[in-house]
Amino acid sequence: MIRCDNGLFTLHTKHTTYQMKAGAHGVLLHTYYGPRVEGCDLSYRIRYVDRGFSPVPEEAGRDRTFSLDVLPQEYSACGMGDFRLPALDLELPNGSRGADLRYKSFRVEEGKYALEGLPAFRGGEGETLVVVLEDAAAGLDVELYYGVLEDYDIITRAVKLFNRGGQAVKIRQAASLCLDFQRGDLDLITFDGKHVLERSPSRGPLLPGVRSAGSVRGSSSHQHNPFVILCEHSAGEDHGLCYAACLLYSGNFQAAAERSQFENIRLTLGIHPWHFCWTLAPGEGFTTPEAALCCSKDGLAPLSHRLHRAIRERLIRDPWAGQPRPVLLNNWEATMFDFDADRLASIAKSAAPMGIGLFVMDDGWFGERSSDLAGLGDWTVNEEKLPGGLEALVPRIQSQGMKFGLWIEPEMVNEDSGLYRAHPDWVLQIPGRGKVRSRHQLALDFSRQEVRDHVYGALKTVLSSADISYVKWDVNRSLAAVWSAALPAERQGEAYHRYVLGVYGMLERMRRDFPHMLIEGCSGGGGRFDAGMLYYTPQIWCSDNTDAIDRLRIQYGTSFCYPVCTMGAHVSAVPNAQTGRSVSMETRGVAAMHGTFGYEMDPSRITPEEREVIRRQVAFFKEHQALILQGDYYRLSDPFQNGPFTAWEQVSPDKREALVSVVSGQIQGGPPLWNLRLKGLDPDLRYQVNGGGSYPGGALMEAGWPLPLPWGDYQSWQFYLSAL
Ligand code: DGJ
Repeated sequence: MIRCDNGLFTLHTKHTTYQMKAGAHGVLLHTYYGPRVEGCDLSYRIRYVDRGFSPVPEEAGRDRTFSLDVLPQEYSACGMGDFRLPALDLELPNGSRGADLRYKSFRVEEGKYALEGLPAFRGGEGETLVVVLEDAAAGLDVELYYGVLEDYDIITRAVKLFNRGGQAVKIRQAASLCLDFQRGDLDLITFDGKHVLERSPSRGPLLPGVRSAGSVRGSSSHQHNPFVILCEHSAGEDHGLCYAACLLYSGNFQAAAERSQFENIRLTLGIHPWHFCWTLAPGEGFTTPEAALCCSKDGLAPLSHRLHRAIRERLIRDPWAGQPRPVLLNNWEATMFDFDADRLASIAKSAAPMGIGLFVMDDGWFGERSSDLAGLGDWTVNEEKLPGGLEALVPRIQSQGMKFGLWIEPEMVNEDSGLYRAHPDWVLQIPGRGKVRSRHQLALDFSRQEVRDHVYGALKTVLSSADISYVKWDVNRSLAAVWSAALPAERQGEAYHRYVLGVYGMLERMRRDFPHMLIEGCSGGGGRFDAGMLYYTPQIWCSDNTDAIDRLRIQYGTSFCYPVCTMGAHVSAVPNAQTGRSVSMETRGVAAMHGTFGYEMDPSRITPEEREVIRRQVAFFKEHQALILQGDYYRLSDPFQNGPFTAWEQVSPDKREALVSVVSGQIQGGPPLWNLRLKGLDPDLRYQVNGGGSYPGGALMEAGWPLPLPWGDYQSWQFYLSAL
């Protein structure tokens, strides 16, 4: 997997090769990343040419063909002649900016590295390559870490910086990866949106200059996602060269791609440099978040499959990796804040007979929380609503045969709360400036240990007071006016990152103290849906938008990186609370089966016929959940094209089973006669469709499956295929 040969470093996965070379003057050049090639020093591709206005470093003397501005860099730095996107930017005590990196050494370590306090893929049997660069003037070692997940075609990267000198160095930017392509003709796909409409793919060719997507909201955000794809202009689901880059980080990030003057592309991905400045005192180290790279020469579908498998098997941790997830009912859309123990018990009573196994009590159970104006931060049960506390409520729910789950929002506080009155200085707020509220709440300074300890102590008491199987960890605002009372002026640029480290630390603590509890991430739906969170929370509420038709788009966009088993998806009541649209219970169920399945309604308020539909849906999901959550996922159509159908498919790894889900669009007169071409089947097997007739896999893939004619808007069908 890792070959080191006289300054040439080659990483192989099953289908890809990644290579770099410590070349002339100790500059580490990136020689290649792409489909696997054997036995070759690929630096022959690098051209040394004299280009006007491209500067030459001192060691190169009169050789005008050696310029950092032209050569492909493995980890770029600014200020010393490379004018393209930097990965590293330092500020030295003399006020100078930039960095100058030269090759120092390398080592190969057994096993894939882990990162203390940060999420990272697990490597199994793998190895780690560490290439050490140094900036002599700064006294800084820059260690480039490479992990190889061979079977998954994933290369992971992270960077550790060590101050070996005698002076403090300020890190102004330290990206997790820099990737130079010796070509300029690629598309960039980013995943963008807003609250209640997250992760819509935006695709376009890179033009000269920089295109970037990122977040300065303190979390990875609804607006952009720390995941991007670069691909050939002609690439589609089943063809074309594609690259994916994914950051395992839940805070401010920047993904930037530059098409340079010489038609080369550079991608950088890492913590956003805005408001970031980390002081590294002599002897100290700093570790960037991990980034993961994936490449496929056969289109976007295999790219997603590789990422999905790696996330399912190497990122999500036990006991949830590959395991069934409970079908849950959450009371939020049914009751909002307006509930008491009897109302919850009656919802549970109507849900249990339909096979729903987990009842989740959402926001409103604690402190003086009867609206979003008050109570956040006071993690003690509101006994007016829930007399006897969880000790009384949980057995009542359990007596219906359901497990119990709880909503929390640890990072936030209302000013109208006991916590804020006792510790007004614990919030992030700039002295002398006005408060910046969002949803009437302020953010606690999670960079501070004593703040985290206090909140965790209160939560631990609640979580230990009853048998709690599940927690929904929510966060409902973006960070603004960020200033930490615990940091000196010159270290305020560390506050955002320390906040994220604080969140990770607390999640890890909760995982350790409650190892069997399922933690679902949430941030007003999908505002912190990223691979960093998935290390701690194996599923994340995908969006506050539960409209089945909008969900088709949200889940489609999400699927490019994240597997179905990570996407929280629920059936809710109609008309939908976000859009006012009404679609059938059947279609809402089909859409929600594109994720960890559940309901968000009061089943006692629907018709007996609808309850029967739910009973069948739950039974169907339970029967096929391994296929739905762990199968290979195929996008059969693009819901953004407004075609007559949106369709997707899951295929079991042995190809003996598949599930095809189809939702029709708005009806038109004379609906099309559509044969849907399936994917991923074994052409030589015969598949029985929904227990009826059987057809060869080859026919179903090449000639297609005739879809029924829709009658009315937004109908849906599921076709279960089993090999004979
Ligand atoms: C935002 C979440 O996304 C909702 O599901 C719900 O939990 C509310 N917060 C509660 O305040």
